[in-house]
Amino acid sequence: MYYRDPGLLVPGARATPWRSAASAEFIGFTGLGTVGEDMPFTGVELGWRLARPAWGHGYATEAALAALEYGFDIVGLPEIVAVTMAGNLRSQAVMRRIGMTSDPAGDFDDPDVDEGPLRRHVLYRKRRDPEN
Ligand SMILES: CC(C)(COP(=O)(O)OP(=O)(O)OC[C@H]1O[C@@H](n2cnc3c(N)ncnc32)[C@H](O)[C@@H]1OP(=O)(O)O)[C@@H](O)C(=O)NCCC(=O)NCCS
Repeated sequence: MYYRDPGLLVPGARATPWRSAASAEFIGFTGLGTVGEDMPFTGVELGWRLARPAWGHGYATEAALAALEYGFDIVGLPEIVAVTMAGNLRSQAVMRRIGMTSDPAGDFDDPDVDEGPLRRHVLYRKRRDPEN
C-alpha cells in the first residue's frame, strides 16, 4: 500500500516519509522520536501525519505498526508512547488499533499550547512483548 521513500529521508529527521505504492504520491509521515524535555513524561514517542486524501485507508495504522516493529525489534526499546490532543479521536483510534492503551494518569496540558480546548493531551503506551 505504501513504501518508505529513501529519496525523501533526511539524516537526523524524526519521521519517515511514505508514498502510496499505487500512485507514487507522497502521503505523509510516521516516525519515532525522543520525547521533548519540556514534557511531563520521558521515553520514545511514535507520531503520524497524513495528507487529507490519504485518510480512511488504514495507511497510518499500517505505517505505525511498521514503526512499532522497528522500535521494539530493531532498536530494542522497552516501551513506546504516543500523545495527541484529547479531541483528536482519529489519532487515538490509530493508537488503539496498533495495540496501545490509554494511561489516563499521564494525560497532561501541553506546555507548548496556549490555554484553551487544544491544550489537553492524552497519553497512550505500549510495552514490548516480553516473548520477543
Ligand atoms: C491521525 C491520522 C493519521 C489518522 O488517519 P486515519 O485515516 O483515521 O487512520 P488510518 O490511516 O489508520 O485509517 C483508518 C481508517 O481507514 C479504514 N481502513 C480501511 N482499510 C483499512 C485497513 N486495511 N486497516 C485499517 N484501517 C483501514 C478504517 O476503517 C478507518 O476508517 P474510519 O476512520 O472510517 O473508521 C490523520 O487523521 C491525520 O493525519 N491527522 C492530522 C495529523 C494528526 O492529527 N496527527 C496526529 C497528531 S498527534
